[in-house]
Amino acid sequence: MAVWLMFVMLAFAGMLSCGVSYDRPPPRPSRFVPLAEELDSTSPQQVHISMVGHDQMRISWITDDANTPATVSYGTSPGNYAFSAKGTSSSYRYVLYESGEIHDVVIGPLKPSTVYYYRCGSDSNPELSFQTPPAQFPINFGLAGDLGQTDWTTSTLDHISKSNYDVFLLPGDLSYADTIQPLWDSFGRLVEPLASQRPWMVTQGNHEIEKIPVIHSQSFTSYNARWHMPFEQSGSNSNLFYSFEVAGVHVIMLGSYTDFGPSSAQYSWLQSDLRKVDRTKTPWLVVLLHAPWYNSNTAHQGEIESVNMKAAMEGLLYGARVDVIFSGHVHAYERFTRVYKEKTDNCGPVYINIGDGGNREGLSKNYINPQPTISVFREASFGHGQLQVVNASYAQWTWHRNDNDEPVVADSIWLKSFSSNPSCKM
Ligand SMILES: *[C@@H]1O[C@H](CO)[C@@H](O)[C@H](O)[C@H]1NC(C)=O
Ligand SMILES: [Fe+2]
Repeated sequence: MAVWLMFVMLAFAGMLSCGVSYDRPPPRPSRFVPLAEELDSTSPQQVHISMVGHDQMRISWITDDANTPATVSYGTSPGNYAFSAKGTSSSYRYVLYESGEIHDVVIGPLKPSTVYYYRCGSDSNPELSFQTPPAQFPINFGLAGDLGQTDWTTSTLDHISKSNYDVFLLPGDLSYADTIQPLWDSFGRLVEPLASQRPWMVTQGNHEIEKIPVIHSQSFTSYNARWHMPFEQSGSNSNLFYSFEVAGVHVIMLGSYTDFGPSSAQYSWLQSDLRKVDRTKTPWLVVLLHAPWYNSNTAHQGEIESVNMKAAMEGLLYGARVDVIFSGHVHAYERFTRVYKEKTDNCGPVYINIGDGGNREGLSKNYINPQPTISVFREASFGHGQLQVVNASYAQWTWHRNDNDEPVVADSIWLKSFSSNPSCKM
């Protein structure tokens, strides 16, 4: 057959499949974000905020200089700070690296759906602002896991920043510093424009462990020092698992890389946290964890954090009628139907893997075939998700692929909460 005819046929086949002809991008390397030139050793950097209880916010930032105050001035109009709060400062050592001064100040009570203007530390520092989440539905969550700090991460963050989100949820693997501690500082500077304006609620992945036998025997040193989440307020004894409530949604953050067996602190904390959930106050129940319990990608199959954690906790979450479980770890997007014990179950959670933030390791492109019936949609592309909880009964989930740097809605589904589904007994 003439070569040209084969070309024509291939081109025609390409046109037929043009809906899915998007080229999978190659990995991009981590990009170090230096301290901006106008900043000095006493300037606040890496500012990020996180929710504490229903009406407070934790403001975290770092200064290279150790003698800067852990104070935040804030108010509801620019340049006019009616309130101030004092917090604590700390630092950590990791092999030869010594961190800057990490400041941690909890402010509030704050009003919902309100823009606050704030300043970290001394009077000469710049003003920042954030918006508190709403007290009632609707509320919009932005989601992406396995973020890293590449040019793909930048695209993902750019799309999230334009999405009108109220709270960002990150199911683990933040900086991909992987023991190179200055990359944690770089990551803090990369995310500051977003994370200083909306609460970022995170849980940890394997890239946060950073334990080196003999040389650095502690796990999660940098993560725990830099990303203090409100575990104390949720009765947890560890920053590695906690919960919080916002606008009618109870969010549980689990730790895949700390003990999860029936005799573990995490397991008993989860049991007691689930008992406290009141579906008349929080009709939606959402869980995040790093290593997915359901996954039809060939990447990360059979890992103990997935298999054993699922064996230990799936029954608990099923019994509690969790609406949706988000994971990361696999660098691709996949949505499952409602599942319990490997089978479709109308009273089980929807599982969504959203480890597609854009890290330096690139995409996980290979899938197990044929596609399992419980897997509804799977695609190896970078992107982010949005969970728009409209009211007590309905939420719309959309997945936005970074299509040649433009966000394109590639998957979308309406979810109905179990609190308004009488066929699944609570
Ligand atoms: C909740 O939102 C859905 C989708 O917009 C709408 O159809 C439904 O009527 C709403 N329910 C209530 C109780 O407002
Ligand atoms: Fe991971």
